[in-house]
Amino acid sequence: MRVKIFAKSIVVLNSREACIEALIKTGTDFQGRPPLKRNNIVLPPNVVFSNFSDRQVLSRRLFTKALKAYGPGVMHLENILQETIQSLVDDIDRRSGCAIDSAELSIGYVCCVIASMMFGEKYSYDDELCHQMNQVNSQVIKATDPFSSGAVLDAMPFLYDFKFLFRDQHKKVDSAKEAITKFIKTRIEEAKKSFDANQMRGCLDYLIEQQMLEVKADGQPSLDDLMLEGLMVNFLIAGLETSRRSLAQIFLDLLHDPTLQKTLQAEIDSQFEPTETITLKDKVKLPRMEAYMLEQMRFLTQVPFMIPHMAVRDAEVAGYKIPAGTVVLMNSYHVAHNPDVFDEPFEVKPDRLIDESGKLVDRDHPLRENFLGFGAGRRQCPGESFAKSRIFLFLANILQKYDVKVDGELPERDVRKYPMSILLTPPSVKVQFTRRQ
Ligand code: HEM
Repeated sequence: MRVKIFAKSIVVLNSREACIEALIKTGTDFQGRPPLKRNNIVLPPNVVFSNFSDRQVLSRRLFTKALKAYGPGVMHLENILQETIQSLVDDIDRRSGCAIDSAELSIGYVCCVIASMMFGEKYSYDDELCHQMNQVNSQVIKATDPFSSGAVLDAMPFLYDFKFLFRDQHKKVDSAKEAITKFIKTRIEEAKKSFDANQMRGCLDYLIEQQMLEVKADGQPSLDDLMLEGLMVNFLIAGLETSRRSLAQIFLDLLHDPTLQKTLQAEIDSQFEPTETITLKDKVKLPRMEAYMLEQMRFLTQVPFMIPHMAVRDAEVAGYKIPAGTVVLMNSYHVAHNPDVFDEPFEVKPDRLIDESGKLVDRDHPLRENFLGFGAGRRQCPGESFAKSRIFLFLANILQKYDVKVDGELPERDVRKYPMSILLTPPSVKVQFTRRQ
């Protein structure tokens, strides 16, 4: 489909085949990103929004290596994560009887997890650093929202120079830029001062070490400070914004479907004693839980058009010629809700992913292949396994210990009605947690 907005053509690919062709089969043809004026002002050049270039490839490689070095399976961080889960449980117990807002709980947990991954220490919800992360993040999101009136500035960037127009937008952009720059620079400065190669803490230390090790022929580091800032921005914003939405969806599902809650709890109870700690290596013991996590991600498809791609040269997809510079959106939302593939696509039905022997269906099963919620190919989300593992730990530990019930009104669970932006946002809900006997 081709849409014209402000005299610019945008091509939307609506089938799995066309998306895979553009994302994988055509090599680098569609791996660009269009310039987004407000993003480029607020944020330093970074992996997510930078156009395809040697610098973007290098910075993505470093991002992925840092995440591997300090992601799932690293003992030091696994221990911190267990402590974070414990403090989540303590916090819920402390507030026993009071309803807790699902959005507040989710963002609190995700901030702690992302801060630990970045800085390698243990954080609790009331840590000042977590508050700052949350605040800075929402300022950036508000200032760059592609579905706000400020989107006109992205579409017609020359308007940005007329400062008397869109005063409110300019204010938002300037203060978001100031807040994120200050936050990131301060963290980098502090980490450099206290850096000790014998006591590596988290992704930031890893990147500081790479900065020292990877030097170009002219003696300059391949990873300069600006790139380092961009990488930290990606950990913060890409990490926070997405995982919190998955958790919000999970609460809605559990509250809308008490049978789902009971089924997942029965699976946990069949594998673990009530006091036993569930860790990441236990994931294989809980196929129903995994099926549910995949199914809720499909249902939500929270980045419905992925991040906009752009043709970096004249190219072709699905038999159509696409001129260089054309913005290409991958409609993973439609792929994940295609009624020809999914029976009742707007229902959450984890059982569809379980085979006759009770196992999760293979990765190449059509129901799994038609989920492109993390993208595919060279710009595929590098945070996928990190996100899934953190969400798994949250869900498994909460359901092992608590029954969850709604407090007050239960908002509708219909992804077609969620507010639309670059990300889809499930409504938050007040939750009552009751310790399981
Ligand atoms: C449920 C959680 C998540 C979902 C659904 C998700 C989804 C996505 C999607 C759809 C893209 C765009 C792919 C494309 O345009 O082709 C993306 C890109 C990206 N994601 Fe995620 N993501 C999640 C979590 C994370 C986390 C936790 C991190 C970091 C810690 C992360 C870091 C990134 C980065 C850096 C990119 C840009 C890759 C590039 O442009 O080369 N994501 N993600």
